[in-house]
Formats: sequence, C-alpha cells, structure tokens
Amino acid sequence: MCEEKNEELIFKEKLDESVESFGKGSQEGAKVSIRNCQDFFGCVSISHQKQIADAFDIDEKYIKTIIKFIPSIKESKVEYEIVCCSGPRCAKNGSMEVLKTVKKELGMDFNETSADGKIRLRTQNCFKKCKDGPNIMINGKFYHNMNAEKTKEVLEKIK
Ligand code: FES
Repeated sequence: MCEEKNEELIFKEKLDESVESFGKGSQEGAKVSIRNCQDFFGCVSISHQKQIADAFDIDEKYIKTIIKFIPSIKESKVEYEIVCCSGPRCAKNGSMEVLKTVKKELGMDFNETSADGKIRLRTQNCFKKCKDGPNIMINGKFYHNMNAEKTKEVLEKIK
C-alpha cells in the first residue's frame, strides 16, 4: 500500500512538472501525463482523467478523446472511483472523520480495489476546493461539506 501512495505522489509531481514545462492548455502536455498515468497505474482512471484535465485546464472530454485514439492507453474498468481529500484544510474541517467513515462503510483501505473490482478507493492531497471541504469525489463528481452522516448516505447509493 505504501508503494501505491508513493506512486500517487510521484504521479502528482510528474503532472506538475509537465504543466510547468508544457503550460496550461497544452494538449501535448496532457498526452504526456496520460502516458505517465498509464505507466504508473496500468490504466487511466476517471479521477486521474479529471486530475489531468484540471491541472492543464483542459476539458475532460478531450482527455477521453485522447484515450480513445491511443490504443495502448486503457481506461480504468472500475465502476466507482472514490477519491477522498487528505489535504490539510479539509483535515481542519473534520475530514479525518469522513476518511474513517469511508473505510469502515466500504470495508476497505485507501489504494485498494474491492474484491469484486467494482470500487477503487484512494486519497488526493487537495482538490483546490478547500473552502467547501471536507470533500470527496466519486466518478468525477464532487461532494462537499462532508461529515460522517452525509458520507454514509452517499455511499449507501453505490454499495
Ligand atoms: S484540502 Fe481538501 S480541497 Fe484543499
């Protein structure tokens, strides 16, 4: 698990480097990051697509189009990609309670995929939506101002 966490951090650093060298809005930079993602994780998940799109300030539809046209790139097959913010400002607003609830309700840890392959759970260090935190994202959709109760309600719908 530790290794996977490092991969997320390394991927994030690579993504930031690509944005710096290619610039915001660069389609070439987005392609490089998609390939990096594929190399790191073996596929490009919905949340990674969003992460790349946000980093380059590019429409997510464009990221999907690139994936479609490069046969070696695989889109993640998991049905639900759940990403919880582990950033410091969400932590100040009580995200620890949310993180614990997510793990308990799903019976799995971060950087794991459920036994049936349906759910993938991971963290991201800040979505840049701190004022609305604690935040979680499911399949690219944000859920803001989360607490234990709201988290249970949201997860109930996908279990
Ligand atoms: S710390 Fe959670 S969105 Fe910034």
